[in-house]
Order: sequence, then structure tokens, then C-alpha cells
Amino acid sequence: MANEFKEKILFVDDEETILNVASEFFQRRGYQTLTAKSGEEALNILKNESVDCCFTDINMPEMNGLDLAEEIRRTDNTLPVIVMTGFPSLENAIQTIKNGVVDFLIKPVNMKQMEISVRRVMEQRRLMAENVLLKQEVEGKDRLQKLNQELMLKVEELHVLNKIMSSFSTISSTTDVFKRAVDMGIDIVPADETKFYVINESVKQPIEVASAKNGKKSSPPQEKKEVGFLPDTHLDHQHDHTVSFPANLLMEVAGDSIPLLIAENTKANGLPQSILSAMLVPVKIRGKVFGVLVAAICEGEKRFSEKDLYYLAFMTQSAAHAIENLALYENIYQNLFATLYAFVNALEARDLYTRQHSSRVTGISLILGKKLGCTSEQLDILNFAGHLHDIGKIGIRDDILLKPGRLSNEEFEKIKEHPVIGANILEQLGLWENERMIIRCHHERFDGSGYPDGVKRTEIPFLARILSVADVYDAIASDRAYRKKMEESVILKIMTEGSGTQFDPDIIDAFMQAYEDGLIQKYMQTGQIPN
Ligand SMILES: [Fe+2]
Repeated sequence: MANEFKEKILFVDDEETILNVASEFFQRRGYQTLTAKSGEEALNILKNESVDCCFTDINMPEMNGLDLAEEIRRTDNTLPVIVMTGFPSLENAIQTIKNGVVDFLIKPVNMKQMEISVRRVMEQRRLMAENVLLKQEVEGKDRLQKLNQELMLKVEELHVLNKIMSSFSTISSTTDVFKRAVDMGIDIVPADETKFYVINESVKQPIEVASAKNGKKSSPPQEKKEVGFLPDTHLDHQHDHTVSFPANLLMEVAGDSIPLLIAENTKANGLPQSILSAMLVPVKIRGKVFGVLVAAICEGEKRFSEKDLYYLAFMTQSAAHAIENLALYENIYQNLFATLYAFVNALEARDLYTRQHSSRVTGISLILGKKLGCTSEQLDILNFAGHLHDIGKIGIRDDILLKPGRLSNEEFEKIKEHPVIGANILEQLGLWENERMIIRCHHERFDGSGYPDGVKRTEIPFLARILSVADVYDAIASDRAYRKKMEESVILKIMTEGSGTQFDPDIIDAFMQAYEDGLIQKYMQTGQIPN
């Protein structure tokens, strides 16, 4: 497709790097390009050059992009102007349409999207020109009607785009963004099912965090009993059948970071037979792929088109922007925490025996922390690290993680990687230094024989020593796939015998006190932390 377009494009932006990147990209694709660093410079170029399409930034000193668009419309109303803005709003969108702008993109703009946009506006322009010519021919009536219809569709398109932009501007948490994205996917393209998978570099598998079906509301991950791409394990099957996207295809789309349209499933991509047509769109945040939104058609004659892909790509871009804004401006901790917690929930939900494990470990850690006189700041850290201590398990293969019975040495070595993977996930977010160390150290032993680093005594963070007592207690005090929970006397024996070897003696003392006070038992029965 590289050389079939020879249009001349003018880029206007006060940031030179953007001009250079865009110019180079489009030149490589066979377009001719011109650049201007201001609206005035752009108007000067337009006096001497015939240009087919103009991209402009909105926020520029002196003449802004909308004023430039207005000026261009006054002098040559056939030149399509595409604006790019970092601050999408409905008013902005309406204003751009009034100023004769034919399309708008939300920054940071991806080159591929710019190209899709160019192709669209060129097609629109062609239709417009044909329309004008045909108006002069009486016998062209039918064709004219058809073209008018197409133009109406374009107007409708702008409505859809406005709807998308305004929809994401009112969201207040990242989990809402996931739900809104899958629901809106059902709304704007003819999909039977949509899903949102989160993908993280440290994790080799995509994690489904939201899904929606045509005619049904989105289901949050907490309620989900199964994750689409996983083999069925010991899960109950009250849920309707859902489509499954192969993990390797999702990872591939994430790696290429280009939206993929599979109009007709020829099974070449490894898609299951039940999917007739599919779209996979990577979601990028600050230049990094964060997840993939997928849409599937499973019945009927309809198939996805380029236009559907354009809508879905625009929508995911808006969703990504919403997530970015939320993460930047609104309680960054809470939102990212909610996202990560959704991972853990999805992870634990796959195995009946680990459900709520992280919540219980957190509860017991908090009881011990209070007994040991932790500050409220330390309790906050325990609360966070407790919920997320096993998040690294999302990087472990399911056949090992969910295996009932004994693990081989090799399999156990794999499992032992989870504290490091978990710490790396948090590191990537550049946050929570204390919590990161606790997660890394939750399988260390007081005598130095633990993993991953084999550190001992006070080299292990105090809060990690607390967490490790709570973690082991919950593991032996609950049912597991391969055994029933142990007798109370056996459990207490294991805990006290571990004092000084596996556990910090001071923390075991606090544990035994809490046990004698009945606090631990009460918590395990009610799920409420006693005061
Ligand atoms: Fe663990």
C-alpha cells in the first residue's frame, strides 16, 4: 500500500519533533510532506503550494489550530483539515466541526491512526467532489442519492466519535474505564462480544479484566469464574459460553501495537471456529502497550469492516487517554491499586482454593501489625502489600499454578519466581518502593533459608516478616486442592515450631497472643477485623 498514495500533506505543530516524526513516517509511505511551525507559516505555504490535506495541532502560540482551520476554510473550503488535540472535549469537538475541520485525533497521536485519517478524508473529499459534479447532471440522481447517503454516514460517524469522547470524560476509576470500553464496543460496532485484556511486560499471559455481550451488561472480573483463554480447570460452569482469544494472538497484537482486523476467520490466526469475524486493538498508555480490546462476531451474516476498526481504535484511544488522565490527576494510588487488585481477583478466582487468600492474609497481617504497634502508615503498606503479595503468580503457567498435588522440583522452581515477578510489576509502575520489597521478601525465612534472595533476620523488612506469618497461617488453615485443612493443634504446632527458623519469634509471640485472644479465629469466621 506504500506507493499508491501521492498526496501532499501539510503538518502544523509548534513542536519540531512531532513535525519530524510525522514527516518522516509519511514520506516513507510515499506521501509528499510539508511542515510549518505556526499557523502564519502554514498560511504562507498554502499561498504557494497546492496541498491535499492539513494536520494541525490545536494549542499553538499566536494563531491556534482552530483559527487556522477557520482561515483555511475561508480561502479554500475543499482542503481537509485534521486537528490533533491533547484535551478532547465535546465543546472542542463541536467547535472543530463548525470550523470546517473534517476529523480530529487525540494526542498522543499514533502515526498509523494519522494515516487511516488521511485515507478517510481523501475518500470523503473524492465523494464531495463527485457530488458537486453530479449535481449538474440530471441523470445522476440515483448516484447522487447514494453519495448523499454516504455523506450522511460520515456525519453520523462524527456523532459516534463525539459520543465516545464525551463518554470517557466523566469516568472516575480505571475499572470503570474497562467496563465502559467493553460496553461501548458493543454499542459502536456490530459485535456479539467484547473483552478487555490487560497485558504487562512481566507477565506472559493476557489477563481479562472486563467483558460484555450484545444485550447484556459488562461483567466485572470479580464475578467471573473463568478467563477466556484458559483451559477449563476445576471451575463451575454457571456462565454462558464465552469466546476465547488465543493468548499468543493477543500477545502478537500487543507486540506489533497495530490494530488487527480479521474480517473473515480463515483459522489462519488460530482463532477458534466459533468466532466468525474479529478485531483486536492494542491500548497504549504513554507509548507502552497496556492491554488489548477485542471484539468478536459469532453468528449471522455481518462481518467487521475497516470502518468498524477505525471506530474501535478511536474508542480504545479515548479509553487509554481516560486511564492516563485518571492515573495522572485523580488519586493515582487508588486507581492503580484497583487495577492491580482486579488482576489478583481474576487470578485467585481461577482456583477455588486460593479464592480470597490474599484478602485473608491482609486481614491477619493487620491484626498482627496492630498487636505489634505498627503506625497507621505501616498498616496502609501492609494492606496494600497483603492484597498484592502473590500478584507475580500471574506470570506462572497455569498447568503448574493450578496443578493439584505435588509439584516436581522444576515446577517448584518456577513457582518460586513469583515474588520477583510481583516486585517487578510494581517496579514498572515506578511506585511503592516499600511495598515492592515486602512482596519480594514474603517467602524469605528468618534463618536465611528462604527465597528469592536468602536474606535473614532484620535484612528482611519487618512488614514482610509479618506478612510471611499470615501467609503461612492462611495456607495451612484453609482447604487446598490436594488436602483438607489441618487440625487446630497441628496448625499451632507448625507456627510455634517455626519460631526462630522460618519466622521472627517476636511476630510468632504476637500471633499466639492474638490467637489466645480469639482475634484470629474470629477473623477467619467472620472476615471482620476485630478492634
Ligand atoms: Fe506467595
